[in-house]
Amino acid sequence: MKRIGVLTGGGDAPGLNAVIRAVVKTAHKEYGCEVIGIRNGYEGFLTADGLFPLGADEVRGILPRGGTILGAANRGNPFAHKVFQNGIEQIEDDSDKVIAAIHQLKLDALIVIGGDGTLRISQELYEKGVPIVGVPKTIDNDICGTEVTFGFDTALNTATEAIDKLHTTAESHHRVMVLELMGRDAGFIALHAGVAGGADVILIPEIPFRYENIAEKVYQRKQVGSHFSIIAVSEGAKPLHGAQTFSNIGDEIYVARLGGIAQKVGVYVEQATGTETRVTVLGHLQRGGAPTPFDRWLATRYGSAAVHLAAAGGLGRMVALRNTQIVDIPLEEAIAIPKRVDLNGDALRTARSIGISFGDD
Ligand code: F6P
Repeated sequence: MKRIGVLTGGGDAPGLNAVIRAVVKTAHKEYGCEVIGIRNGYEGFLTADGLFPLGADEVRGILPRGGTILGAANRGNPFAHKVFQNGIEQIEDDSDKVIAAIHQLKLDALIVIGGDGTLRISQELYEKGVPIVGVPKTIDNDICGTEVTFGFDTALNTATEAIDKLHTTAESHHRVMVLELMGRDAGFIALHAGVAGGADVILIPEIPFRYENIAEKVYQRKQVGSHFSIIAVSEGAKPLHGAQTFSNIGDEIYVARLGGIAQKVGVYVEQATGTETRVTVLGHLQRGGAPTPFDRWLATRYGSAAVHLAAAGGLGRMVALRNTQIVDIPLEEAIAIPKRVDLNGDALRTARSIGISFGDD
């Protein structure tokens, strides 16, 4: 193995830099292999200054830094690439150009650090001959085949800290605090942070809720002397027979952006219970900042394992965590079905057993 490339695709997640660093260090130390950094996801193959050698100097000091030194392009899809011609926006399929650029570079492997969207694109490129090795990234933790993605633990810490802070002020003012959390169609952040932060109600996309049930829980708490309540709402949560709430409808490139459900819940609860209610949207704070030690540890293991996998010829595969061990699985398996909260799993059972309401009963 003489030369590999590395790129970060999709939205950023804490720990990206730790993966990049481990890739560079492992490639140099174990294989004497050159590493090329690709800027802004697949976009880098289409731009003049999109490629650069990644060496010890470039990765020095980046382990604890959030974001990605390679830059991220949220919608960097070479199969649907947004270009401007004579001032007019057009979508074109530039995948052949990207593939040609990769072949010209003579990469033995292209390590792609991405979420479901980027991994899906990468599988398509793999089928067209690109030597892909995947690393699962996302704060949403919604990638199948791996127990956890890096970035999730940091987001969970940020979300839990927010719930802790809301708790103190909620109690002082006898208020209901509604906190909207990220996660798209998966409720992992809201569920885990809600349990860790002691939320009274958790609303997740996997369990459609009834507004009346949320108000009932707040009311019941008041009856026993708890004049405040904490409601953790996943941005993708929706009422029974209702739809998800979007802040932006999206287009051919940008997927529709979820947002606004917490406000609806807050308005309903205040009116139905007569308890003053405030709404907080935690937003991109969940994606920013320094990765937790767990995410640094996981990201480093993923990065190093991805290089060993490439050297062993494991193309079209992705590193994953199973039973505390790093393994590798076919990319196809990772993108087959998105991971969701297990409705029969112990996490939900635990939450229900300690009295948390999911708005469904
Ligand atoms: O997938 C990660 C994520 O942060 C989601 O939780 C969220 O819905 C989305 O990305 C936000 O995307 P953007 O950065 O484009 O607003």
